[in-house]
Amino acid sequence: MTIWKKKSKILVTCPKGVVPYLKTEIETLGFPVLYELDTAIQTEGSLADTMILNLHLRTTQRVLYLLETLPADTPGALYARMNALPWEELLHESGKDAYLCVTSIVDNSSITDTRFVNVKAKDAIVDRIRDKCGLRPDSGPEKDKAVIHVYWKNDRAEVYLDTSGERLARRGYRKIPLEAPMQETLAAAVIMATGWKPEEPLVNPMCGSGTIAIETALIALGRAPGLLRNNYGFMYIKGFSDTLWQETRKKAKDKAIKKLPGKIIATDISKSAVIAARQNAQTAGVDHLIEFVVCPCEKTAIPEQSGVIILNPPYGERMGDIKKLETTYQGIGDFFKKTGGGYRGYIFTGNLDLAKKVGLRTKRRIILYNGDIECRLLEYELYAGSRKNSEEK
Ligand SMILES: C[S@@+](CC[C@H](N)C(=O)[O-])C[C@H]1O[C@@H](n2cnc3c(N)ncnc32)[C@H](O)[C@@H]1O
Repeated sequence: MTIWKKKSKILVTCPKGVVPYLKTEIETLGFPVLYELDTAIQTEGSLADTMILNLHLRTTQRVLYLLETLPADTPGALYARMNALPWEELLHESGKDAYLCVTSIVDNSSITDTRFVNVKAKDAIVDRIRDKCGLRPDSGPEKDKAVIHVYWKNDRAEVYLDTSGERLARRGYRKIPLEAPMQETLAAAVIMATGWKPEEPLVNPMCGSGTIAIETALIALGRAPGLLRNNYGFMYIKGFSDTLWQETRKKAKDKAIKKLPGKIIATDISKSAVIAARQNAQTAGVDHLIEFVVCPCEKTAIPEQSGVIILNPPYGERMGDIKKLETTYQGIGDFFKKTGGGYRGYIFTGNLDLAKKVGLRTKRRIILYNGDIECRLLEYELYAGSRKNSEEK
């Protein structure tokens, strides 16, 4: 049986804090959740199933298909075990697709530099292909073709096909990223964490490059985020069927709706941010569904019915200056107090001291990581009496 049909373990990775949302997504797609880790979920399926996972999952970074688990306690043993795998059946030895990249995570006291492991594993693969086919594929750091991932802990190495290639956060619509943009996968997790429903208005002041508003539109339409990309690691594994891929894409396209059930509003004080956000939304095919306005946060118009407001203000790690930002956060508090009536307000920030300046009591605090930065998604319930709460603080 080819691996395109053979069931194996699949590791679906995500940023820290995102596992609960990824879990819901995996279950909704009908895949089992076998095991939960801090930054990944283990499920199972065939290599063909990874097409579905790559296409539909919004909160994952990579979809890794387990090829083999090998006993290996030294780099020499890793080379020998990996060299014994039938790589010539998996990877192209010639032509434009004959290129591979090896990545690794190593937790083995005898190894201090993972680059050494990458080279050893890569040599094992290309030497094998050269011995069997007389030709060897090129290799390097680019992840736009075949990617092999090795997870080596103590005397056990797990060898995966990285079916995503480039990480899935790179949806391809953010041509103009601006400063401090949020990863697309994290933005999707933030939206899910708010419990927002597609028929509710979603308001995103301080929208920056528009990631939150764009991800909201994609979720509201049920449009698979992977439809925006046309290059994945699985395409470089022998036996890849473009017909099956096109069918999988078509099924996903047919499921999406065209009309937005609710309203999405994105505003920013910076004109160039709004221009970039609109352009990014256009690349994603959702610009006509988002109302963009250049205005300071407090001037953002809020629709009558109840809904969700999400802000990702600067938090001083990469942009802005703390003193000025204190005023910005106070301004958000005033804006929330004015909003009142049935809205839930959310601030995603990596600076809790600044968050205190909002002056409202938080209802919920969710820990999420933006890269290495521990952040919080803070929930505020906004109602006519919000002002009273601020006095209680
Ligand atoms: C961290 S960025 C948002 C990044 C965004 N989530 C993304 O993915 O690109 C913060 C944004 O807040 C905007 N901003 C700062 N102060 C503001 C204010 N008082 N009113 C409105 N926007 C403001 C900045 O122009 C910047 O675009």
